[in-house]
Amino acid sequence: MSAPRILATGRCLPQRVVTNEELSRRVDTSDEWVFSRTGIRSRHFCVEETGLDLAAKAACQAMDRAGVTVADVGVCIVATFTPDHASPSTACLLQRELGLEEDTVCFDVNAACAGFLYGLKTAHALLSDSPRPCALIVGAEVISRVMDMTDRNTCVLFGDGAGAAVVRREESRIWHTVFGTRGDRSSIRVQGPGPAPAAIHMDGKAVFRFAVEVVEKSIRQLLAAEGLSSINDLDLVVCHQANARIIDFVAKRLGAREGLFYKNMDRCGNTSAASIPIALDELAESGQLRPGMRIVTVGFGGGLTWAGALLRW
Ligand code: ACO
Repeated sequence: MSAPRILATGRCLPQRVVTNEELSRRVDTSDEWVFSRTGIRSRHFCVEETGLDLAAKAACQAMDRAGVTVADVGVCIVATFTPDHASPSTACLLQRELGLEEDTVCFDVNAACAGFLYGLKTAHALLSDSPRPCALIVGAEVISRVMDMTDRNTCVLFGDGAGAAVVRREESRIWHTVFGTRGDRSSIRVQGPGPAPAAIHMDGKAVFRFAVEVVEKSIRQLLAAEGLSSINDLDLVVCHQANARIIDFVAKRLGAREGLFYKNMDRCGNTSAASIPIALDELAESGQLRPGMRIVTVGFGGGLTWAGALLRW
C-alpha cells in the first residue's frame, strides 16, 4: 500500500489582526458573545496581501523545511473557495511565482473547508505516475473579500490565511480516508460573481448539526479502518477550525482525553481550506507533532463536503 507522507509544512497569516473588540465597533456584537459561541478571539484579514502572496509564502516555507527544490515537485494543488481570480487559478500563478517546472500538474480545488484533504487525496493519486516525487498542497483563503461586514451572523467567524504541505508518496504507511458530499445550497452559500455584493449566507444551526454529525461519523469510520477501539489510541486529532463548540461536542461524544483535539481558532478564526494545514504547521513547529505519531484530521464545510484522513506523521 502507498500513502502520502507529509515531509514538511508552512503557513502565512496576513499581518493585520482583527479582534472581536474591533468588530464590536462595526456590528452589534461583543467579545463575550463571539468567544463563548465560537472560541474565536481574533483573526487576520488581508489588507495589501493577495491569496497568491499568502500561498507563495506558505509554500516556500514548506519546501525549504522539506529540503525539496522545484525539480522535485510534480503536482501543485491549491484548495480555495476565495481565489484571486476565477481564472487563472491560484495554482497556475503559484507555478510561475515558485518557478515550478512547466510539466507540473497545477490546478485549484474547491471543496470549501474540506479542500485541503481533497487536495491531499488528489495529489497522492497523481503522484503515482508523476515523473517527480513530490506534491505541494496549499490551502489559501482571503475570506474577508467575500464577507458582508455588516452581517454579525457571519463577519465574526472567518479569517484569512494559508497553510502548505509538501508530500511524497511512500510505501507501507498508514493511510485511511473518508469523503462525503451532500448537495445543499441553504446551509452555507457564498454569493458568486455577479451584480450583487459578495456575501456568505449561513444557517449557523444547520451547519452546526451537519458538522457534529459528519465529524463524529468520519472519526469512527477511520478508527474502525485502522482497527482501533478508542479515539485515545490516537496521538492527535486536527479538525477544521470552524468553531470550538463543534470540536468540544465531538470530543465529548467520542470520550476523548483532554487536549487530544487541537484548537487554534481563538487566534485565526475559521480560515476554511487553510485551517488544517495552518494547524498542522503550528503543531509541527512547536514540536507537538512528531514523526511516527498517528493522527486523524477532518474537514467539513460548504457544499456540503467533508473529508477525513488517518495517517502517520
Ligand atoms: N453577536 C451577537 N449576537 C449575534 C451574533 C453576533 N456576532 N450573531 C448572531 N447573533 C444573534 C442572532 O441574531 C440571534 O438573535 P435573535 O435570537 O434575536 O434572532 C442570536 O444571536 C442567536 O443566534 P443563533 O444563531 O441561535 O446563535 P447560536 O447559538 O446558534 O450561535 C453560531 C451562532 C455561532 C453561528 C452557531 O450556530 C455555530 O457555531 N454554527 C456553526 C457555524 C460554523 O461553524 N460555520 C462554519 C462552518 S462551514 C465553513 O467553515 C465554511
